[in-house]
Amino acid sequence: MDLERYLLEKNGIINKRLEELLAKKDEYPQSLHAAMHYSLFAGGKRLRPVLTLAANEAVGGNMEDALDMACAIECVHTYSLIHDDLPALDDDDLRRGRPTCHKAFGEAIAILAGDALLTAAFEMAANSRGARKDAVLKAVGELARAAGSTGMIGGQVIDLESEGKETAFPVLEYIHIHKTGELILASIRCGAVLGNAKEDELAALTRYGRSAGLAFQIADDILDVKGSSAETGKPTGGDKKKGKATYPAFVGVAESGKRAKELADMAIDALKGFDKNADPLREIARYIVARKK
Ligand code: IPE
Ligand code: IPE
Ligand code: MG
Ligand code: MG
Ligand code: MG
Repeated sequence: MDLERYLLEKNGIINKRLEELLAKKDEYPQSLHAAMHYSLFAGGKRLRPVLTLAANEAVGGNMEDALDMACAIECVHTYSLIHDDLPALDDDDLRRGRPTCHKAFGEAIAILAGDALLTAAFEMAANSRGARKDAVLKAVGELARAAGSTGMIGGQVIDLESEGKETAFPVLEYIHIHKTGELILASIRCGAVLGNAKEDELAALTRYGRSAGLAFQIADDILDVKGSSAETGKPTGGDKKKGKATYPAFVGVAESGKRAKELADMAIDALKGFDKNADPLREIARYIVARKK
């Protein structure tokens, strides 16, 4: 299959629905909505919402049932990036190829734009069109847990508290699995749940999601060392400067690449029981470790 075409097509669908669901850019309070749109429509890869749609497709679901949840997950992700870039966190100036939200709108508006995107996400998710209400309820609960203190935010806290310190390998794994892996896993599980996945399908997709999620953050670490800012749209070299706990810092770039590739293989292996409807997920696993941005 042609993954590039698949991503382009799904991105178009996701962006159109996001525009419909989100308050308009010029709606009052204008500075807030302008900041939300600025960060959301800055050209992110949309990998998480695409995973939601691809997991839904893998279990034979109806795309419309998972689309609003996919949009919600992208809002949670974008909020996490706005806050991740703040001076109190990673203090970065460039994101998605443009000045970070706080550089463009000031810290207060950036914080509040993040808050509003997170909240908008749960409105979108709860109001999901089409899908069975019990499936929506389950998916909303999963997204909330993945984004919270025992998920993504837990990972962000340990990421910050580990800066400049000697860190044990299990702590590095905790950071990666939580700050990044949990939301990626939830993206996949929510898509599957909204496609009425059977228990064994959900278990297999969970194995896929855990491997793909960790592989994604290892690739992100590698891009911080080896990538080009022109392609990633964010600064490079920052992890080393900040003394971040990363895979390259622990095992070097080459070994990190090997580990990411093994995880992608494991993710693909978890899909053995699926037919060609899972091909997009298979291709995405390869893309996660081969990507340049
Ligand atoms: C960056 O995520 C933050 C991490 C969790 C590593 P992406 O690499 O998916 O960023 P966008 O959405 O394409 O900008
Ligand atoms: C970010 O990890 C994870 C979240 C935003 C939750 P990073 O700090 O490594 O992401 P980048 O490199 O700034 O995109
Ligand atoms: Mg960070
Ligand atoms: Mg960061
Ligand atoms: Mg990074």
